[in-house]
Amino acid sequence: MKKLLSGLITFLICFVAIHSAQGASYDHEMKGAGVTFSWKVDGDTLHGKMSAKTKGWVAVGFNPVEQMQGGNYILGYVDGSDVEVVGHFGTRKINHDLDEELGGTSDVTVVGGSEKGGTTTIEFTIPLNSGDEYDTVLEADGETTVVLAHGPPRDSFKARHRKQAIMKVNLSTGEVQ
Ligand code: HEM
Repeated sequence: MKKLLSGLITFLICFVAIHSAQGASYDHEMKGAGVTFSWKVDGDTLHGKMSAKTKGWVAVGFNPVEQMQGGNYILGYVDGSDVEVVGHFGTRKINHDLDEELGGTSDVTVVGGSEKGGTTTIEFTIPLNSGDEYDTVLEADGETTVVLAHGPPRDSFKARHRKQAIMKVNLSTGEVQ
């Protein structure tokens, strides 16, 4: 009986560990430029998961005004056991910089990351409205422009993407136009 009970407890611990390592469950999914982006809005928070066949960075961006300018970007890569995730802001059409370097704040929370079989997956949360001028305000029920891109097989946030996808989405309903 004791053995059965300790077996059951071990099973439960493994089950919880595996499932919490996978992060949140997501309500919606979109794909573009080789990136799959899954998300859910929970109160004031966006839970996101991005995945691409790359050994470099994978990223999602919100509400750029022109090319990359004015957009709020979350980029992440996995280097060994290190999960590097940053928040950038599009300062020019073809440039973006780290929020903190611009005088803003870091508002991304890393939930997890992995690089398996050449696929990089990053899970994170961000507030819909961080209050940082170098983030955009995300309206859960309005129209949000979502951009997706991934980098070449290099763990560097300076390495350029080859393609990008731009879509208009309602973050609450998941409707993509
Ligand atoms: C990591 C460093 C990055 C570099 C060096 C870079 C570089 C560039 C360059 C040079 C362009 C202009 C391309 C052209 O005019 O043909 C561009 C455009 C663009 N990039 Fe990036 N980029 C980076 C990251 C990102 C990320 C993370 C995203 C989104 C997740 C993104 C989304 C876009 C979009 C939406 C455009 C505009 C494309 C258009 O106008 O049709 N970029 N990027």
